[in-house]
Amino acid sequence: MTTSDILRAALVNQLTGNGTLTDPAWIDAATAVPRELFVCGYFVPIDGSAPTGYRAVRHGDPGYLEGVYADQTLVTQLDGRTRPEEAGEQSVSGAPSSSSTLPSLVLAMWQRLGADAGHRVLEVGTGTGYSTALGAHRLGDGAITSIECDPWVAERAAAAVKAAGYAPRLVTGDGLGGDPDGGSFDRLIATCSVRYLPTAWLHQVKPGGRILVTLSGWGYANALALLDVTGPGEATGRFLPGYTSFMIARSHDRPPRPALALLPGKERASRIDPAKLDTWTGSWVAQLAAPSAERMGAGGRQILSDVATGSQARTVPDPAGGWTVVQRGPLRLWDQVETAIEAWQSAGEPPQDAFGLTVSAAGQRVWLGSHDGPGWNLPI
Ligand SMILES: C[S@@+](CC[C@H](N)C(=O)[O-])C[C@H]1O[C@@H](n2cnc3c(N)ncnc32)[C@H](O)[C@@H]1O
Repeated sequence: MTTSDILRAALVNQLTGNGTLTDPAWIDAATAVPRELFVCGYFVPIDGSAPTGYRAVRHGDPGYLEGVYADQTLVTQLDGRTRPEEAGEQSVSGAPSSSSTLPSLVLAMWQRLGADAGHRVLEVGTGTGYSTALGAHRLGDGAITSIECDPWVAERAAAAVKAAGYAPRLVTGDGLGGDPDGGSFDRLIATCSVRYLPTAWLHQVKPGGRILVTLSGWGYANALALLDVTGPGEATGRFLPGYTSFMIARSHDRPPRPALALLPGKERASRIDPAKLDTWTGSWVAQLAAPSAERMGAGGRQILSDVATGSQARTVPDPAGGWTVVQRGPLRLWDQVETAIEAWQSAGEPPQDAFGLTVSAAGQRVWLGSHDGPGWNLPI
């Protein structure tokens, strides 16, 4: 047995032991696919650095293989261009733009997707190709089509998938447009997040099929949804428990903006504690209520800046207690967020699995509790 085999077996034991990996066929895939073939190098965040600095760990460096077989996400590209191989020994910074997702999440998602023999699967966000290879091992090469938008990432993934002995169909392009050849699929799994469901997905996944995707946005909140496609262009389902987040699809990312200038506006007392927006579900509710706003700040000092209209809202703690909110611009962002947070509080502040999503010709509506509960339209 090689060191890689031993470390991989230990990871599989960890994931079966903690209840993540339960399906024998996916256990077999996790045991068979060597993750190091897909990750020649990766970036490790440097503790305490702000903004986050990274050091590159490359094949052959001390701890490289142990890192590959830790249950962690491995960042493999920054800012759409910086790669570990070329990073040198200095600390580098940038926004992660490609990665190998942590194995427990990749395998949990494959299991949750419920893909079975005979199913055709579209994966959006090939990344390193590790999850693609797992899918090809479990379902067969012919079952998998995977799309990656970054040509360099796609090229590396293709080489790695081939070296691992698999031959799924790999496409380079914007996965939000679906299969450019107009495929028809039983399942769609996305390992980048989206602000709303792309129309192509809703037509390329057959009625009766399923979509597993993380919804995110410019407020940096995330929620993993499992949807049943109910007809052409229609789907419904619920958000799943847990804390899943993925990097946003490049074509859904916030456009670049100049440095933010905080401007005066109308002041009033806030009815809600702004720190609610720092909680996992509170930030999700705020993002639903103000879907084109970027969220900054923390605690009692929240800042919302609307990308579409330039509207702003910011909160400041009052020395006498409570918080003041300052709002300006055509959208009253805090009014929107406050009303949504109050609706969520009236329901007892439930976690994300209390929410669902229905997509129809009328739009894409996230609801709380049931279809006719409080709801918010996604920004399609
Ligand atoms: C978290 S990584 C994928 C992880 C991958 N499944 C793995 O196991 O290595 C997300 C990937 O989605 C890609 N991506 C982002 N936007 C995309 C889009 N619109 N279409 C296709 N791929 C996209 C990124 O370039 C990145 O490689």
